[in-house]
Amino acid sequence: FLKVKANKLANPFFIGMAIKASQLTNGSPYDIILENEFSSISAEYEMKMDQISTTSGVYNWTVADKIVAYGNANGINVHGHALVWHNSVPQWLKDFSGTDAEFKAEVKKYITDVVTHYAGKVKSWDVVNEAVDDNGTTMRNTIFLQRMGAGYVKDCFQWARDAAKAAGDNSLLLFYNDYATSTNIPKQNKVFSIVDDLKAGNLIDGLGFQMHNNYLNPTKAQIQTDLNKAVAKGLKVHVSELDIQVNQSNDISTFTNERRLAQKAKYKEMVQLYNALPAANKYALTVWGMRDNESWIPYSTELNHPGNDWPLLYDSNFAVKSAHTGFLEGLD
Ligand code: G3I
Repeated sequence: FLKVKANKLANPFFIGMAIKASQLTNGSPYDIILENEFSSISAEYEMKMDQISTTSGVYNWTVADKIVAYGNANGINVHGHALVWHNSVPQWLKDFSGTDAEFKAEVKKYITDVVTHYAGKVKSWDVVNEAVDDNGTTMRNTIFLQRMGAGYVKDCFQWARDAAKAAGDNSLLLFYNDYATSTNIPKQNKVFSIVDDLKAGNLIDGLGFQMHNNYLNPTKAQIQTDLNKAVAKGLKVHVSELDIQVNQSNDISTFTNERRLAQKAKYKEMVQLYNALPAANKYALTVWGMRDNESWIPYSTELNHPGNDWPLLYDSNFAVKSAHTGFLEGLD
């Protein structure tokens, strides 16, 4: 089992899985796999602002509480994903007609209330997700940038830090999370400039590398360079949303053996690279979903993924794939 092997490492780290609350019923196939194989969970979407915040100062905690309670009851680490993200802004905040100062106060209140509500129960948060534009040179032109200005990332981290401290939670880890920094070097540089700014204020503890990869890219060298920069900055590294596409070019209609083996090798490589990190920089390696047929990838609009894919560790029957074997071998 993945976490059993990981926990025996000289420098262990969490083996994470993205989940949905409906999967957490006691004795479900998900529950059995999670309890045997995983030591951390991230909510795939149910701990985002558009799911928790119904309107200003009004929250629906039910589903997120179920996820957090499951982790806490089963000794499984809970990573909070994500406080601020442009793709999970609730409609009321999109339509907000107040001033920019009032908008900023709403975001501060949301972050403060959520971090306070989960203090001591959620061990880490993606405070801001995907704030850098894919052009790699500018901040993404989100509602947060437009209404709060360029300092919004730092503000969000400050508010999260202050709320944790006020709640007596001095161990909460604050992460910045983004994607494609291993292959998009301008974006990698822009992310690390944000990191430097946050580190100056002691506001960041770790970096989330989503790693929505494929069987060809990023290369081992590209990943190594990216992760090493985080190590050099003294940051914890969270591989936060790992999946490995094998049909990103839509050139196969069935999962061929050649692609199975290529995917197995890439999972093994990613786990080996993560496992080689210094102990101080290890946190978690999280896979973005349980079964191939549940992956976000084949249905994703922003990815423009052309067809089917088989990116995860388990097949539609919850059976382990060769990718899972590769993951295990990476823990040797
Ligand atoms: O399950 C409900 C269904 O009951 C309901 O009828 C339906 C219509 O509202 O929604 C269904 O939930 C959807 C959920 O995916 C199903 O898994 C949500 O609407 C939909 O928003 C959600 O999409 C998630 C997306 O983030 C937006 O939150 C994806 O699962 C999730 O994989 C994706 O993950 C993101 C990371 O957070 C950030 N990095 C990129 C990654 C992929 O986009």
